[in-house]
Amino acid sequence: MRFIHIGVGGFGRVWGQVLKDCEHSDVVGLVDVNDEALQAACEAGGCSAAQCFHSLQDALKAVQADAVVVSTPPAFHRRDATAAMEAGLDVISEKPMADGMAACKAIARTVLETGRTYVVSQNYRYSAPMRTLANVIRSGRLGAIGQAEVAFFKGVDFGGGFRHEMPFPLIIDMGIHHFDLIRFVCQLDALYVSGTSWNPPWSNYAGDCSGTALFEMSNGARVLYNGSWCAKGDFCDWNGNWHIECEKGTVTYRNGEIKVYHVPGLYKVEGERIEQPAPPRRTAQAYILDEFVRCAQSTARPATGATDNIRSIAMVFAAVESMQSGRKVKVLDESLRAILECTATS
Ligand SMILES: NC(=O)c1ccc[n+]([C@@H]2O[C@H](COP(=O)([O-])OP(=O)(O)OC[C@H]3O[C@@H](n4cnc5c(N)ncnc54)[C@H](O)[C@@H]3O)[C@@H](O)[C@H]2O)c1
Repeated sequence: MRFIHIGVGGFGRVWGQVLKDCEHSDVVGLVDVNDEALQAACEAGGCSAAQCFHSLQDALKAVQADAVVVSTPPAFHRRDATAAMEAGLDVISEKPMADGMAACKAIARTVLETGRTYVVSQNYRYSAPMRTLANVIRSGRLGAIGQAEVAFFKGVDFGGGFRHEMPFPLIIDMGIHHFDLIRFVCQLDALYVSGTSWNPPWSNYAGDCSGTALFEMSNGARVLYNGSWCAKGDFCDWNGNWHIECEKGTVTYRNGEIKVYHVPGLYKVEGERIEQPAPPRRTAQAYILDEFVRCAQSTARPATGATDNIRSIAMVFAAVESMQSGRKVKVLDESLRAILECTATS
């Protein structure tokens, strides 16, 4: 497939390498507003100056492409994803789908109207430990989930950039990975959320960098998300620390280790074991690209396409609404339900 890659600096460099390593992808155009980033990507990818552009529109006029990878900051995802689909191209978009719920709905409607293949890069699903954690739950051996906690405490300084300026950076730019993982691991959707957020005095982020969100899931279970991107120590890894309690025991994840506690009766732990993750053939962005190429060339749909991802991003913006209003908020509002009903019947 012929790709135009938009946003080639920063995390775009990861995509540049993944596109280069994939035998099914051919990068025919690079787009960035920053000339240094463009030139570095051009050299790294073996492109020519004639394949470098400052806008998707200029690239579309000059080169023939089948798809785009959008790895610009979130505020630009809607613009480039919808323009690409309207021009007949398929889209891989970095998370979050967009920087607001109205923009996400507009993208989902464009996916419906154009019928293009669209995927959000929720790469955290495609790591050995998170797949293994999900498989423990899916196997059914611990029974139904009753309660869970995901704790994400990490101190990260990006040295400026959009995350330091945007509202709710923890929830919108990072929480989307964890909220999507909650759905993926627990195999449950969220119905309601109550959240609160704050910015510790030492934070160098303009928006609230710490928060909690209590989700009421579709089976009645409660999942508590508790996190900070300006934590001061005892850091977890990027997946966060997980504690999931089920009818017949508990499974935890902490810094790469998955532990299962067997508790068949009430409260007495009958056994514990470490679960060894099986290494998958492809991980992260390489998995997403491979799945995307297969879907674009068939009638299959990516696991994290618009219909699925709207349920994860809705958790993000419902949590933000709850943090702003102090009220419990429904995750899927009526207009989202309408979009999902259309996709179910299309
Ligand atoms: N999936 C992951 O694990 C992961 C990790 C990091 C970042 N991301 C996502 O990737 C995206 C980019 O993040 P980043 O940290 O690389 O951001 P960044 O600010 O470093 O920007 C990336 C590139 O986009 C370019 N750019 C900015 N505005 C543009 C515009 N209007 N048109 C074209 N190019 C533009 C910048 O010049 C830069 O080269 C975000 O959505 C972020 O959430 C995902």
